[in-house]
Amino acid sequence: MQHYKTELKDEAATHALGRCLARQLVPGLVIYLHGDLGAGKTALTRAILHAAGVTSHIKSPTYTLAEPYSIILDGRETVVMHFDLYRMASPDEFLEAGFRDAFTVSTICIVEWPEKGEGILPTPDLELFLTVEGAGRQVELRALSDKGSACLKHLHFAPNL
Ligand SMILES: Nc1ncnc2c1ncn2[C@@H]1O[C@H](COP(=O)(O)OP(=O)(O)OP(=O)(O)O)[C@@H](O)[C@H]1O
Ligand SMILES: [Mg+2]
Repeated sequence: MQHYKTELKDEAATHALGRCLARQLVPGLVIYLHGDLGAGKTALTRAILHAAGVTSHIKSPTYTLAEPYSIILDGRETVVMHFDLYRMASPDEFLEAGFRDAFTVSTICIVEWPEKGEGILPTPDLELFLTVEGAGRQVELRALSDKGSACLKHLHFAPNL
């Protein structure tokens, strides 16, 4: 499957990547965002959601574990779930809240700290690894399904051009 690594020299580049990813959203797409505290997972998620048309404030779901958003995708209302599992105490917390049911063929899921949900989360379509590099960030994008590969193939993200 496809694999792609690039530099995000400043926050504007993160926003640009978010805009590119927003254009590749399809129903049921699952994206995992890996990276240390402050690596830019929420910043990227905000950029994706804003570019997808969300006008409300996008808070970090640190304590709620998940926040739902509604976007219009190809004329259809589509739910995007933004997860942050950093503070998840146990898998039961996730399962009892019914969050496993969010992973459907139609709902788009973006997950920060997916490693905290190992064993209860499905395999993603796309996995992004954000790392701090100097004053900027580096991002590695990996596709783990045909859907994810299609997303990367059409991403057309070239921040340095
Ligand atoms: N490409 C970039 N270069 C430099 N700074 C960036 C870049 N992208 C985002 N940032 C900044 O990095 C910080 C990232 O914070 P953010 O809350 O997105 O991190 P996070 O990965 O979600 O952390 P947490 O694990 O705590 O949820 C923000 O202050 C943002 O402005
Ligand atoms: Mg965050």
